[in-house]
Amino acid sequence: MTDRPVGMLDSGLGGISVLAQALRALPRENFVYFGDTANIPYGDKEPEEVLRLTRLGVDRLIGHGCKAIVIACNTATSVAAQQLRSELSLPVIGIEPALKPASLLPGEGQILVLATQVTLRLPKFHALMELYGDHATPVPCSGLMECVEAGQLEGERVENLLRELLSPYLQTPIKAVVLGCTHYPFLKKAIAAILPPGTPLVDGNAGTARQLARRLKEEGLEAPPEHVGGSVTFLSSSPGQEERMQNMLQMALERL
Ligand code: DGL
Repeated sequence: MTDRPVGMLDSGLGGISVLAQALRALPRENFVYFGDTANIPYGDKEPEEVLRLTRLGVDRLIGHGCKAIVIACNTATSVAAQQLRSELSLPVIGIEPALKPASLLPGEGQILVLATQVTLRLPKFHALMELYGDHATPVPCSGLMECVEAGQLEGERVENLLRELLSPYLQTPIKAVVLGCTHYPFLKKAIAAILPPGTPLVDGNAGTARQLARRLKEEGLEAPPEHVGGSVTFLSSSPGQEERMQNMLQMALERL
């Protein structure tokens, strides 16, 4: 057992949706969150560059004494998780579009998988499609992450963009929508508003928090029973982000 923190990273604020879930699921753990805000977006960069940046972020978290790493970014996971697991001796947990749980839901119709260009293009996603993608349609969502980073979670800009992205798919029945980028859970309300009422929106956050819990247990790295957790240190690659990150976490804890 150890009271060292868990490290978590994303290109920006999106991974805070995963952080909120992990704080709820693992109340004895402390976290260090790194947002690579100087290099966002990852979703339209070359994979080699995303790997380089992810490695830098992970090194920074390891430098803060983190005992395990959560790559709270679907894009960076697709590119870097396997490689980093082979290089590092600490647990590396990733996130992938939650197509499996969505495919297991009852009901008919297509499953829309919203994610970045890079996530949808790489072999990891193709393998997921082979297994669970019979009725799935990948939908690259350029521009959505930018709305979240700008704090525009509702309103005209985000509504117009979502209509543009999703209206080609709204003529046929939809069984579920997968939020395959960690920024998108912040847009749940806006996304739900343009889908048929009751359409399930599925993200991988709870599954990732469960996997983190499992890996900490397997490796004997859980916080001791009497340990008081719940603290978060925010780091970023551009200055002046801490308050924005704190606010986003507050919102995620209250609304997601
Ligand atoms: N939050 C990231 C993800 O889950 C991507 C955002 C970006 O394009 O940087 O894919």
